[in-house]
Amino acid sequence: MRPLIRTARCWLLRARVRAMATLPTAPPATAISFTTRPLYTPSSRSHRRLLARFFSVAPASAGARGLRAAASAVEVGGVKIAREVDVVKEDDLTNNVPDTIFSKIGLQLHRRDNHPLGILKNTIYNYFDKNFTGQFDKFDDLCPLVSVKQNFDDVLVPSDHVSRSYNDTYYVDGQTVLRCHTSAHQAELLRDGHTHFLVTGDVYRRDSIDSTHYPVFHQMEGFRVFSPDEWSGSGMDGTAYAAAELKKILEGLARHLFGAVDMRWVDTYFPFTNPSFELEIYFQDDWLEVLGCGVTEQEILKRNGRRDHVAWAFGLGLERLAMVLFDIPDIRLFWSNDKRFTSQFSQGKLGVKFKPFSKFPPCYKDMSFWINDAFTENNLCEVVRGIAGDLVEEVKLIDNFTNKKGMTSHCYRIAYRSMERSLTDEEINNLQLNVREAVKDKLKVELR
Ligand code: PHE
Repeated sequence: MRPLIRTARCWLLRARVRAMATLPTAPPATAISFTTRPLYTPSSRSHRRLLARFFSVAPASAGARGLRAAASAVEVGGVKIAREVDVVKEDDLTNNVPDTIFSKIGLQLHRRDNHPLGILKNTIYNYFDKNFTGQFDKFDDLCPLVSVKQNFDDVLVPSDHVSRSYNDTYYVDGQTVLRCHTSAHQAELLRDGHTHFLVTGDVYRRDSIDSTHYPVFHQMEGFRVFSPDEWSGSGMDGTAYAAAELKKILEGLARHLFGAVDMRWVDTYFPFTNPSFELEIYFQDDWLEVLGCGVTEQEILKRNGRRDHVAWAFGLGLERLAMVLFDIPDIRLFWSNDKRFTSQFSQGKLGVKFKPFSKFPPCYKDMSFWINDAFTENNLCEVVRGIAGDLVEEVKLIDNFTNKKGMTSHCYRIAYRSMERSLTDEEINNLQLNVREAVKDKLKVELR
């Protein structure tokens, strides 16, 4: 079963599986600027393919890049972020950030106390305040623009890991990304001397489109360092001690959020923790993955001033939990300013069930084309979102074949649906026409 929402496992494990299946796994940063990643030397074939993939979608013209093309700037945590200078660089081939993404920076849904994500964040804060009286430092305003080093190197993501690829991550340029997880802040906070912290923030990942996937979502990271005297009398080694506390704390958190639920621990892999686990809870007849966590790799502690210490870390996806807790059926709703959505939630009230104000019918349109080597589904989804914005609910491959000449055809079914109103036939036909044009133009595929 496909996990409900991207979380730790589905990103990193999917990434690993794909890394095995496809050759060009290096990021554009590597392809463009070898100085940043000297270890990686792509074969000329994979290098060419990478660049081809690159050129097939970027640079994009302002109009096609998205819905909010007007120049603007936003501020996050005292850092001013200007659209052209810092995020959307239309002439820079190492940039793959469209306006639809820029338009989300600075909105910080997790900082709205009456928003499901803010309510959830505050409930988790309360749990930690209760159990660790004031020990956890909280950050929810750190700038989402981070270096490739912060996002990947500092948390030991291998240089050829596919999560670094242009297909999965938004690059502002060869050295800067929109963070794809809140783990990007672990190292700097450790270096600043923090030993207990929670980091909440918007994170960005290129992905396919459906009701539980959106290229911007929100995570909370927890991190806690132990000094040797904390475990020395326990009869356990530091790692076992940290793992035991981690599990106890997170089981308590799950009960704080969901009440008395069945839970289970599943072993998994993350580059930055060892051992690594996922917590699953039994919810509506199914095991639901709630978070990823583990005991921090020694190397991270050593590099950041905490040699001889141990630590645990966890990362959870707020949308995933909020969809379940508040019965929110579509991830796009979190971004809605419609009063019929926003007025249903209020500060401190976790788990008030969302009442859909009305159900609008979806409209399906199919499109078929011959793909090329550079084609990826994430690129297709970006183009579709660039035209249809949040009116696109799902993009799904429904047919796929290769003919005798070796040409591969894909047929995608696009579901259009507004969360807020009925769409007219004319509007949808127009959208579909524009989507077809843009797909042909940007992805250089041959429409059938
Ligand atoms: N950063 C991981 C992700 O986004 C989640 C995680 C955080 C896992 C901390 C372990 C420890 O996929």
